[in-house]
Amino acid sequence: MTDILEITDLEVTYQRSILALHGVNLRVAKGQITSLLGANGAGKSTTLRAISGFIGLDNARVNAGRVRFLGEDITGLQLPRTIHKGIVLVPERDKVFTNLTVAENLEVVATSREEGSKWQQIEEEIFVYFPRLAKLRNKPAGLLSGGERQMLAIGGALVCRPQLLLIDELSLGLAPVIVDEIIERLREVHAKTELSMLLVEQSAAVAFALASYGFVLENGKVELEGATEDLRSNQKVLDLYLGTGSTGRADYLANARRRFEERANV
Ligand SMILES: Nc1ncnc2c1ncn2[C@@H]1O[C@H](COP(=O)(O)OP(=O)(O)OP(=O)(O)O)[C@@H](O)[C@H]1O
Ligand SMILES: [Mg+2]
Repeated sequence: MTDILEITDLEVTYQRSILALHGVNLRVAKGQITSLLGANGAGKSTTLRAISGFIGLDNARVNAGRVRFLGEDITGLQLPRTIHKGIVLVPERDKVFTNLTVAENLEVVATSREEGSKWQQIEEEIFVYFPRLAKLRNKPAGLLSGGERQMLAIGGALVCRPQLLLIDELSLGLAPVIVDEIIERLREVHAKTELSMLLVEQSAAVAFALASYGFVLENGKVELEGATEDLRSNQKVLDLYLGTGSTGRADYLANARRRFEERANV
């Protein structure tokens, strides 16, 4: 199976001194959905930023290692060139323009992609994937629920015609029923387009519902990888990410609570 993305020994520092990634190795197979799990501060978002060219915006730098996309070395490539290559990130925060309507959010992306003349057709395509958005087309994005915003952000990313879609925290802070809906929609997108995806998740259950392969990041390093069916039964994953182990449940709950409180303060 060909890899669309290959990361080798990637090291990233913030502000020249804070080492966030200590030699990350991971791959995304073409046409597959891959997950990246990890606790708070493990380096998941940093990894996605390094791939998608957001890194310069955060005073971060790739110190060592390589990012290869479709065999080409793209280490350190910045926005918007990464988007032109076909790598599109749905970020953790600030996913949508809150003062623009749903339709305008999609239009802005389409026009910036020089597909402006076709934007209505593109918009309709997105509404087929996310019928809920069609009903909300004239509503300001700032008035959408968290789940609806997530759908709009994914819709906006799809307007860019990505070859690799990166999603940072698909399910964080969303009600389970809307998470299920987003999972279903992404499955449909994947079934139709075979779009390669890398999903960063705090919920192993969500990651495993979509991905066929996964990586577990700890303190800036990949500690575990495997097919989803193997990760599902791995004791460490059970303890830390599914909260079903004997000691794991307390850690898992404490971690979830801390993360919730951190987000609530943002
Ligand atoms: N802008 C920044 N400046 C300095 N250090 C940062 C910055 N962003 C992240 N870091 C540090 O880099 C490390 C990795 O952070 P990162 O945000 O990638 O983790 P994460 O796995 O996405 O965590 P979370 O689950 O909380 O989103 C952490 O130690 C974090 O404190
Ligand atoms: Mg993060």
